[in-house]
Amino acid sequence: MTKVKNIVMLGFGDMGKGIAQVCLMAGYNVTAVDVSDEIIEKGLEYNKTGFEKLEAKGKLPEDVSATDLMARLSVNKDLSKAVKNADLVIEAVVEKLDLKQKLCNTVIDNSPDHCIFASNTSSMSITEIAQGCKKPQNVIGIHFFNPAPLMRLIEVIKGDRSSNEAMDIGVELSESLPCLRGERFVARVLKDRPGFIVNRVLSPSRMYSNYIVDLAYEKGIPWEQVDADLSDPNAPMTSLTLSDFVGRDIAYHTQLYYAEKLSPDYKPGKVLTMQNNEGTLGKKTGQGFYDWSKGRPQPDLSKKAGLVNRLVFAAINANEGCRILEEGVVNSWKVIDEAILAGMNFPGPMKYATEHYEELSDLLEEYSEKLEKPYLKPCELLKTGKFVDMV
Ligand SMILES: NC(=O)c1ccc[n+]([C@@H]2O[C@H](COP(=O)([O-])OP(=O)(O)OC[C@H]3O[C@@H](n4cnc5c(N)ncnc54)[C@H](O)[C@@H]3O)[C@@H](O)[C@H]2O)c1
Repeated sequence: MTKVKNIVMLGFGDMGKGIAQVCLMAGYNVTAVDVSDEIIEKGLEYNKTGFEKLEAKGKLPEDVSATDLMARLSVNKDLSKAVKNADLVIEAVVEKLDLKQKLCNTVIDNSPDHCIFASNTSSMSITEIAQGCKKPQNVIGIHFFNPAPLMRLIEVIKGDRSSNEAMDIGVELSESLPCLRGERFVARVLKDRPGFIVNRVLSPSRMYSNYIVDLAYEKGIPWEQVDADLSDPNAPMTSLTLSDFVGRDIAYHTQLYYAEKLSPDYKPGKVLTMQNNEGTLGKKTGQGFYDWSKGRPQPDLSKKAGLVNRLVFAAINANEGCRILEEGVVNSWKVIDEAILAGMNFPGPMKYATEHYEELSDLLEEYSEKLEKPYLKPCELLKTGKFVDMV
């Protein structure tokens, strides 16, 4: 197996600069490539000040200084030249399929034979990104969570034509990257299906939250009361504040994507469609569920609307976990729970489901009727409890 030494970080934006940081800390040489001079400057500054802070706190590996780390980071705006000696390229450019395909071709055509192209896409198919390139066996996904230095999870994804060797190199590389908050967890994604593990398992619960929000809107119930229903009191942000923070347009387009790839039942609800069309997108436009014009809102959660049955979320997520087990995306329910904990900082749904799958299945029968969403019906693995043995 080729030992990775030289990494090209293609795209030095929000994700790229953080991924470069952990690659440098693990001892690799990194060349950053981006089309924007401003982004390159910001990325260099982010890494420099980040390393200096870590050095001051004594958190860098022994005998390594911030200056040593920065000496292994270079910049090259010409991708064909930058990849001449690359062992692995991590791509984190904007989420556009034709761009990723074009860059994948350029990398494969100009790099050494063994060079791996790893995409950090959150939603696109690795198989489609590799389509048309000369060595699809060298193309995999390495999906980080944001911010890459702090989030423990990395998903390594096998496209339909990725070689086992490329997967092994991707996993070994990912396992070698430090995490500044706890222990790294690397999950092998064995099938290239939408959303991979974590985003996929959590995706259909939006059908239920859309339903709740639409119901509250029809009844004229204030968002704060709905938020009190939906929010986990221990979470750093309330549920609707987080929705505003991420952006309602992102949620809208993500749901359309799943509607196309998985089931029309994912189609955005009435309120989400309205927010997207009217441009009340949350933080970025100053108004979403809440007014952001004076900074982050502080909703009063003292009164609940009483619309939400929280167990329904657990049931929906466990059912989707069973679906990805059926599809062969992973072969152990424990991997799903570990991945969700490492990627989202809250427990996954599967352990609870091992003891309560009958109750959860009954609940899903009831709610799939109530919401008129056949996709929410319990799948065979959940209904029969057969997933329990898939450890
Ligand atoms: N932001 C997240 O939370 C997150 C999490 C996981 C994965 N991702 C994925 O990571 C990727 C990047 O996301 P981001 O949030 O860092 O975006 P970003 O907009 O911050 O960065 C993208 C960078 O790509 C650069 N770029 C555009 N065209 C280029 C080209 N032809 N060559 C080189 N660079 C080019 C841009 O200048 C920009 O700096 C996307 O595929 C996204 O889905 C994002």
